[in-house]
Amino acid sequence: MKILAIETSCDETSAAVLEVKRGGVKLLSNVVLSQIDIHRQYGGVVPEVAARHHVKNIIPVINQSLVQAKTALNSVDLLAVTKGPGLITSLVVGVETAKAISYALNKPLLPVNHMYAHMAGNFLGSIKFPAVCLIVSGGHTELIYLKDYHQYKKIGQTVDDAVGEAFDKVAKLLGLGYPGGPIVSAEAEKFQILNFKSQNIIKLPRPMLNSRDFDFSFSGLKTAVLYIVKKMKPSEVKKRIPEICHEFQEAAVEVLVSKALKAANQYKVKTIMLAGGVAANKRLRGELEKQANENKFEFFVPDFNLCTDNAGMVALAAYYLSQKQRSKLDQVPKFKADPGWEII
Ligand code: KG4
Ligand code: ZN
Repeated sequence: MKILAIETSCDETSAAVLEVKRGGVKLLSNVVLSQIDIHRQYGGVVPEVAARHHVKNIIPVINQSLVQAKTALNSVDLLAVTKGPGLITSLVVGVETAKAISYALNKPLLPVNHMYAHMAGNFLGSIKFPAVCLIVSGGHTELIYLKDYHQYKKIGQTVDDAVGEAFDKVAKLLGLGYPGGPIVSAEAEKFQILNFKSQNIIKLPRPMLNSRDFDFSFSGLKTAVLYIVKKMKPSEVKKRIPEICHEFQEAAVEVLVSKALKAANQYKVKTIMLAGGVAANKRLRGELEKQANENKFEFFVPDFNLCTDNAGMVALAAYYLSQKQRSKLDQVPKFKADPGWEII
């Protein structure tokens, strides 16, 4: 069986082909066309601009994914597409394109939740259940408890900003550009490498570290950075950027890792998974893996190319979802893009 998956939830146009054989699954292609260079000049994603580029690029990207996978479109058995959550103007391009292919070729089409797809980036490994998954992206920060591939529930989430959003906003207020995550983390690494020393070591809060729930808050952390920056002269800010980024990253990682471990212990799981664009953060990957191992949990995180938005994870999600839902799939799909589609 071959699955063709499409992802256009934000500013990446992506298509992937997954092959399912008796021995397991293999990604034959995972083409990602990022619009980062286009949106950088605006300091963030402009939805209407993103949509126009998706429209222009979606067919060439699908074609490239089929060519790389040496697969003809009519030999695809199942189609999958991100239905939500995401930007409605972006989602609708992928969803309507997938529906058109499904209708024209008379192939079933599976709608996939973007957050489930992020988790599924881990499903190339063999997961021991039960598990918890920490999903950290530009729009979401969620803790999910999974009984198996199909039964799961959200046990915690951010009450305000997502952690990726906080990385992006901190980068913006430090004048570092977009997207902020990779830049802030590179600056933080400089601090460690140079063992940068300054007179007053910056200390930031760890919001909700000791709250009894599994929720998060990152808006106050971002504001704390803003207050620190406002108190300094611009020349001092410039000099201390690595230190500010380091302390911000430490604060975010400490809260995320601590809550994930707490959930894993309380729910008595076997496995901790990490997923989403911020899972590309080396400090977070390293620290969560270390603490998971020390506490005898299995640990999974996707390869870097499966962390930020891509259709490969959508194809993997579709494979697991199809095992349960295939018989229920409409031959002419009627679903619509849903920007607020909750994972559960
Ligand atoms: O999952 P994703 O590609 O898109 C959404 O679904 O939102 O996540 C994008 C987010 C952005 O906020 C970006 O700054 C963040 O992931 N990100 C990182 C890193 N790479 C990407 N954050 C921290 N460290 C990174 N290395
Ligand atoms: Zn995402």
